[in-house]
Amino acid sequence: MKMKNLNNFGAWVVMILLVFFFRGDFRLKGGNSSKVYAVEEEFENKNFIEWDDLSVDDDDQNNNTNKGLDLNQRNPSSRVIVVDQNGGGDSLTVQGAVDLVPQQNHLRHKIYILPGIYREKVHVPKSKPYISFIGVENRASETVITWHDKASDKDANGNVLGTFETASVTVESNYFAAREVTFENSVIAIPGTNNMQAVALRLKGDKAWLYRARILGTQDTLLDESGYHYYEECFIQGSVDFIFGNAKSFYQGCILHSVAEGSGAIAANHRDSPDEDSGFSFVHCQISGTGRVLLGRAWGNYSKVAYSFCDLDSIIAPEGWSDWNNTAKERTVDFGEFHCRGKGADRNNRVPWSKSLSSFEALPLLTTQFIDGHQWLLLQRR
Ligand SMILES: *[C@@H]1O[C@H](CO)[C@@H](O)[C@H](O)[C@H]1NC(C)=O
Ligand SMILES: *[C@@H]1O[C@H](CO)[C@@H](O)[C@H](O)[C@H]1NC(C)=O
Repeated sequence: MKMKNLNNFGAWVVMILLVFFFRGDFRLKGGNSSKVYAVEEEFENKNFIEWDDLSVDDDDQNNNTNKGLDLNQRNPSSRVIVVDQNGGGDSLTVQGAVDLVPQQNHLRHKIYILPGIYREKVHVPKSKPYISFIGVENRASETVITWHDKASDKDANGNVLGTFETASVTVESNYFAAREVTFENSVIAIPGTNNMQAVALRLKGDKAWLYRARILGTQDTLLDESGYHYYEECFIQGSVDFIFGNAKSFYQGCILHSVAEGSGAIAANHRDSPDEDSGFSFVHCQISGTGRVLLGRAWGNYSKVAYSFCDLDSIIAPEGWSDWNNTAKERTVDFGEFHCRGKGADRNNRVPWSKSLSSFEALPLLTTQFIDGHQWLLLQRR
């Protein structure tokens, strides 16, 4: 072959290769998109909560500059919606951000709430799982969602709300997460008056992880209604039954702060039968504040509450627990203490039907295994 022909031949080969290359590139791009879809589908069944679901990192924030869901993003496993009452975000209100989340979403939606007092009543419906409320790190007390309904208030139709409907924030969906946000009901229950129950947070969905959240109210602050929940290093304030409901919850390293004037109570668990898988376990919590408070009251016939390795201040009523004026409950409730310390931990004057737990009895209560954490909590920090 002559050199010139070879050159022409070579040019043809290069051109043909280029055409194939670009086609290939085109196909490759298409292929990548479907890969991204595949990744998204993997996350459809992401039936766990991990540390990343509680953090908004730089990648997330960059993602957010592309409004909407960009499937070509490196990290398609979450989407960030910014709430800024000064107008710099995607929504002025927290509810507005929840409304932006699609029904039956499969992706984690992180609602990043900039500091501010958000005066609104927020509802996260059952149809919107995988939502996180995330405040700015170490500024939980400046990022406040607050409302002021109490049990005796009436709704738009003139019906009395009742306790459960008073919640400032209601979460009905599964796999909810919250970090460094304050939930508040600003009603101050006056001791001795009726119908002052005023819930700050109502947590009804299954599987939730709250990290360094603040939950503030007086009577019936936290309605820990149903599902498995993990409260880590939270601050929970109230006076009467300020943690109540029928969830199965593990409270680790929390501060339970009583604002009771006179008598009050911390936990009112509603477990009503021996078959119900619910109860509250408090581990390494610190109890302080004012008043003379009970560790728990038997709302349900089989109410189950335990405090282990907790620091109990002198505000704890010496008898410790109440049968809610029903002696029959004394035989069925499950109220226990394990290795607590502080002036309120003296069990000499406790009601005889409460228990000092043995190590064997305490063991299932001491870790997130209490809430089957191995099945849905990935606690490793990044
Ligand atoms: C709780 O026990 C009482 C008897 O002390 C009984 O009358 C009541 O029906 C029980 N409640 C439930 C929900 O089983
Ligand atoms: C129990 O009975 C006492 C005395 O009748 C009353 O003051 C108190 O409110 C009752 N407590 C409950 C939880 O019903």
